[in-house]
This record gives sequence, C-alpha cells and structure tokens, in this order.
Amino acid sequence: MGADIFTPGAQELIYGRKMMLSLKDHTGNSTIICGNLDGKPVLGFQTHKIVTVSGKKILITSIIDKKLERKAIHGLKVKDPLASLNQILEIPHDLAIVVLHFSDKRAHELLSKTQGIDIAILGTQRGTMIKDKDKIINGCLLVKNNNHGKTMGYLDWNFVAKTPITDKLLQINKDTYPADKKVAALVDKHETWLRAHYIKLEKGKTESSDVTTVVTPYVGNTKCATCHPKVTAAWKKTRHANAFATLEKKCKEYCPDCLPCHSTGNFAHGKKGFSSPLTTPHLFNVQCEECHGAAQEHINNPDLPYGDTINAGVCILCHTTNTDPDFSYLEKKKLISH
Ligand code: HEC
Ligand code: HEC
Ligand code: HEC
Ligand code: HEC
Repeated sequence: MGADIFTPGAQELIYGRKMMLSLKDHTGNSTIICGNLDGKPVLGFQTHKIVTVSGKKILITSIIDKKLERKAIHGLKVKDPLASLNQILEIPHDLAIVVLHFSDKRAHELLSKTQGIDIAILGTQRGTMIKDKDKIINGCLLVKNNNHGKTMGYLDWNFVAKTPITDKLLQINKDTYPADKKVAALVDKHETWLRAHYIKLEKGKTESSDVTTVVTPYVGNTKCATCHPKVTAAWKKTRHANAFATLEKKCKEYCPDCLPCHSTGNFAHGKKGFSSPLTTPHLFNVQCEECHGAAQEHINNPDLPYGDTINAGVCILCHTTNTDPDFSYLEKKKLISH
C-alpha cells in the first residue's frame, strides 16, 4: 500500500522491529512513527512527522498504550504516554493529529488529561468516523476509522474554527483508492467470485426439496406490526432494522460468515430461525424475535406468557469483543429502547 505513515500497534509489538522495517519497505518506504516507543530497537522509527500543506504545519504522531507493552517480546519498551505526548506537542504546529493505540475508554482518559490535540484517531478500535459532541474531549475530535480495512476516513478541516467541515468514509476499492489499483482489483475479483459461489450454493438448495420447506417458529417482524405498531416504528429506526442492507452494500448478503449476526434466530447461533437467504427471507435483519424469542405461539395466543428474559447475554452473542469492543449493555440498550 502506498502509505506515507505507518504507526505500529499491538500486533506490530508482537512481531517486533524487524517485521516493522520490512513493512516499511513494502509500503513504499513510509515513515514509521511512534511517539513513545523506547530502547535501542527503535532505530529507524520517528517520534513524529511534520507535514507542511499550504503553509500549515501538520504535526502527526502516534501513541501506544502502556498496557500493550506486555505484548512486546522483542525488547520494545513503551514510555509513559502522557509525558511523551506532551513533549511532542511542544513542537510548533498548526494542527496536531495523534493516532492512539488505545481502547475507547482509555483514549478518553488520556485525552481528558492533555490539551492541544486537534484530532485523535483510534488505531485499533472498530467503528467509523464520528463527530458527535461527546466525541470532542478537551477540544480534541476523536474519530474511529477501522472497518476491517475496507474503508478510509476522509476529513475536511477548518483551520480557523478548528472543526471538521465534512467527514465521510470512502470504500477502498479500485475507484476510490487508485493508488492501489492492483490490490483493489485483486480484492474485487475475489469478492465477486466468492459472492457468485455463495449464490450458486444457495440456488442449488432450491432443487433439494427439504430445504425450501424449512419450518421455523420464527414468524418475522411484519407479523408484529399490527398489534405493536409503535414498537415496530421505533425498531425500524434502529440499525438492527438495516443490518441486512449493510451486508448488501458490502456484497456480503449471501456470506455465511456475516449472516449469523445480521439476521434473526440464526441456526449458526443454535437457534431455529434464519437458515439461508432463499429459505428464510422473512428473517433478515436483527428483528424482534432475536431478542424476545420465537413468537409463533405468541401470535396464536397473545394472552399466554411470552418473551425471553433480556439481559446483556442476549446482545453479546453478536456484540462480541471483536465486533463491538466497547459494548456496554446499559448504554446501548438506550439506543434501541422502544
Ligand atoms: C394479535 C396481536 C399480537 C401480535 C400479532 C403480536 N403481539 Fe405481542 N402482545 C400482544 C398482546 C395483547 C400482548 C400483551 C399485552 C401487552 O402487554 O401489551 C403482547 C405482549 C408482547 C410482549 C411483552 C410480553 C410481556 O411479558 O409483557 C412482547 C415482547 C411482544 N408482545 C412481542 C411481540 C412480537 C415480537 C411479535 C411479532 C413476532 C408480537 N408480539 C406479535 C399482541 C400481539
Ligand atoms: C443477532 C445479532 C445481534 C444481537 C443479538 C444484538 N445485536 Fe445489536 N447489532 C447487531 C448488528 C449486526 C448491528 C449493526 C447493524 C448495521 O448497522 O448494519 C447492531 C447494531 C446495534 C446498535 C447500533 C450500533 C451501536 O453499536 O451503537 C445498537 C445500539 C445495538 N445493536 C444494541 C443491541 C443491544 C442492546 C442488544 C441486546 C439487547 C443487541 N444489540 C443485540 C447485531 C445484534
Ligand atoms: C459476531 C457477530 C457479527 C458477525 C459474524 C458480523 N458482524 Fe457485522 N456487525 C456486528 C455488530 C454487533 C455490529 C455493530 C457494531 C457497532 O457498530 O457498534 C456490526 C456492524 C457491521 C457494519 C457496520 C458498522 C461499521 O463498522 O461500518 C458492517 C459494514 C458490518 N457489520 C459488516 C459485516 C460483514 C461484511 C460481515 C461478514 C464478513 C459481518 N459484519 C459479520 C456483528 C457481526
Ligand atoms: C436488540 C433486542 C431487541 C429487539 C430487536 C427488539 N426488542 Fe423489544 N425489548 C428489548 C428490551 C431490552 C426491552 C426492555 C425489556 C427489559 O428491560 O426487560 C424490550 C421491550 C419490549 C416490549 C415491552 C415489554 C414489557 O416488558 O413491557 C415489547 C412489547 C417489545 N419489546 C416488543 C418488540 C417488538 C414488537 C420488536 C420488533 C419490532 C422488538 N421488541 C424488538 C429488546 C429488543
């Protein structure tokens, strides 16, 4: 990849300096930046970089969480993040950008203790660009840009107001990332092949009689709307209602790796709901029955007791440490309340 700057994170600490230097070669001799790595092995790294654009000095650095030091098996030491950061921020600049290899929570803690950073990018946390008010900490805009490496964040910055003008995510493919035409074309080719492969497998199922007659106690959310119109309207506004569209946008709507969490009552989760796009098309998205349980009996007789107990355990089936590292039941429950 034709990157200018490379900031090592937890994974690179594990592999060590040698691997990082080889990455440097593979990335068109990009600069390796880490503001708080210590010891002899740091030779070849820089603590920061100043990039001058239209006369404005942009200071770029990267800070790694002290906690990650235990992962370093090649003698790399992690210096105190706050002290290193404050020292680098003394270098004259017009805009300071810091890549933080921290969890969301620990990034908040660090930023609340320091002044003068304009933009902090979370290096390892999954999620996308955010400019909510609560993401501005001590005047610093905290953004995330990690979506399995499939998107790239884009930010227009107003130097006078010190605020972003626009922010968006660009898909990394051959149209939006021409620098890597070759890589993007290979990825595209593979994805196209994979999608066609899954569709073929799926279509093959229609020929075997047993699969088209999947019997499931999951009735689908259209059945709830008549008696629970308000709740249904509220649910439709949540991202759960768009989970399948998300996969379609990624051309992954047939992908068995993705469907378990972007559908309802998936067999892969040991439930008897969604089995495949063709056989159970009424169970796309994260619907009511994912959380409340199969509702066949409830709609036959609404007076009978119905509904599984809902607690964090229901959510972390999909909101795993991988897909949603900062998941907090109480916080996220508010966002889906109905
Ligand atoms: C024919 C009407 C009807 C349909 C269809 C229906 N419900 Fe209900 N539902 C009720 C009634 C009546 C109650 C009990 C009264 C109440 O508390 O609102 C109820 C209660 C519930 C409760 C609360 C249970 C509790 O312990 O208080 C949940 C959750 C629920 N329904 C979910 C669903 C879901 C999900 C669907 C669709 C799969 C659905 N309902 C379809 C009529 C219906
Ligand atoms: C079957 C898997 C599944 C379960 C179970 C599930 N979710 Fe989700 N959730 C998802 C998916 C997938 C998305 C992303 C949908 C998209 O944007 O396409 C999501 C998105 C969300 C979002 C919006 C994005 C965010 O993280 O802020 C919230 C809030 C949320 N879920 C809360 C919950 C809560 C609370 C529970 C448990 C009561 C829960 N979810 C259970 C799969 C699930
Ligand atoms: C273990 C469950 C799980 C699996 C498997 C899964 N997802 Fe998700 N996905 C989630 C949850 C939970 C969210 C919401 C997390 C959040 O945004 O806070 C989500 C959000 C997303 C988002 C929107 C958020 C973003 O970061 O842009 C996309 C796109 C997405 N998933 C694509 C995929 C694709 C493609 C696959 C298959 C390769 C997949 N997912 C597999 C649980 C899962
Ligand atoms: C991501 C999980 C999730 C999804 C999806 C979901 N709910 Fe809920 N629902 C909850 C939670 C959590 C509560 C609050 C219950 C609690 O705190 O114990 C709730 C409460 C309810 C209640 C009130 C029950 C009561 O105890 O008063 C009804 C009715 C209900 N949901 C119906 C629906 C319907 C209908 C849909 C689909 C349109 C739906 N829910 C989708 C998680 C979910």
